[in-house]
Amino acid sequence: MTEPKKLFIKTYGCQMNVYDSERMAEAMGTQGYVTTDVAEEADMVLLNTCHIREKASEKLYSDLGRLRPLKNAKPDMKIGVAGCVAQAEGAEILRRMPLVDLVVGPQSYHRLPAMADAVARGEKAVDTDFPAEDKFDHLPERKALRGPTAFLTVQEGCDKFCAFCVVPYTRGAEVSRPVDRLLREAQGLADRGVKEITLLGQNVNAYHGQGAGGDWGLARLVRALARIDGLERIRYTTSHHNDMEDDLIAAHGDEPKLMPYLHVPVQSGSDSILKAMNRKHTRDDYFRLINRIRAARPDILLSSDFIVGFPGETDQDFADTMDLLQTVGYGACFSFKYSARPGTPAAEKQAVEAEVADRRLQELQALITRQQRAAQEAMVGREVGVLIEKTGRMPGQMVGKSDHLHAVHVSDSNAAIGDLIRVRITGSASNSLAAIRL
Ligand code: 5AD
Ligand code: SF4
Repeated sequence: MTEPKKLFIKTYGCQMNVYDSERMAEAMGTQGYVTTDVAEEADMVLLNTCHIREKASEKLYSDLGRLRPLKNAKPDMKIGVAGCVAQAEGAEILRRMPLVDLVVGPQSYHRLPAMADAVARGEKAVDTDFPAEDKFDHLPERKALRGPTAFLTVQEGCDKFCAFCVVPYTRGAEVSRPVDRLLREAQGLADRGVKEITLLGQNVNAYHGQGAGGDWGLARLVRALARIDGLERIRYTTSHHNDMEDDLIAAHGDEPKLMPYLHVPVQSGSDSILKAMNRKHTRDDYFRLINRIRAARPDILLSSDFIVGFPGETDQDFADTMDLLQTVGYGACFSFKYSARPGTPAAEKQAVEAEVADRRLQELQALITRQQRAAQEAMVGREVGVLIEKTGRMPGQMVGKSDHLHAVHVSDSNAAIGDLIRVRITGSASNSLAAIRL
């Protein structure tokens, strides 16, 4: 028997890239590749890149530079670049980095095995098209699952064109996967013991897929998924304010498998900045939305993304952002200092001074941390569900996620990985909760 070839994948960025990396690993599995965690022993190294953070292409080129000694020592090793930087840079990567053999954009992963064949023959391969077919239709079924939770990409791309964001350019227009494919994939996951599914999409609540009787929105998809036996928990991320439809909000109130945690980014609390960002809603719209969500599910924990230092942001605009946070009260938030992405409309504008933006970011993060702690402390004494994901460091201790997505350490639980148990929260540490099993 010949030794299987080894594939090393480094994944940058978001959960969708994690999902895509798994699917690429499976596609390469059909070509005789097994994955390895050790780059040195790989026959192929694949960098699955992310373009959302600052200087993404510079980072890619320096990471590729670091692979050079490896490639020199092992000239047969193939190097591939996937993900959003591959999409944005395309064949330019081959020109700048001749050690790269393959460049594949996020919509072309189903073509990866054929590309790998070409590369094995000594050719270079580039594919950054936005093909009409669903790449997932052409990828093999999912096997390599780890643990009781899984991601399921239901939608990709974005038509919103926020002024700061590269996603509409790198991931393309909104495309939703058909309902039957998703139900089948979810059933397959449940059959393999998955208890919790997180539905992924750059604009997941804009999901509109073809299903029985026509067009299905996300709420209808969630309700159909909830009928799958063994699947106990459903989450979805990331949502846009304008796509939070009534039936989806209602589902938060009456679909028990839909977990009480929702990421709905607002980015800024200032109306003029929201307008400049092309967010297409006001702060009052956002408050109204939050009130409706909380009316449906009073104990829901909310999270958001914030950008500080967007071009033109004044002290008053920033004060409005702080005020929005105070008014909403989040369970968790991600915050970023604005940085220009070439090709986006905001990149043309004068940025806020770096020191000012740094100061605002610090102030914002301090408030976010206080709110996160407060949300955790408010859980103490409550009974919640925990899905056990791994063993803890202490004897008998198990670690999992609560309904509200808190990391929970359960002492002497007598539970196994994959068990969904009821616990009482007994304490709050900086980034996790302690609990005892009920
Ligand atoms: N600068 C800073 N943050 C950004 N994000 C997206 N683009 C930029 C940018 N140019 C943030 C947004 C988004 C999150 C995934 O990344 O807050 O919601
Ligand atoms: Fe980017 Fe999200 Fe805006 Fe789409 S909705 S452009 S993904 S920030």
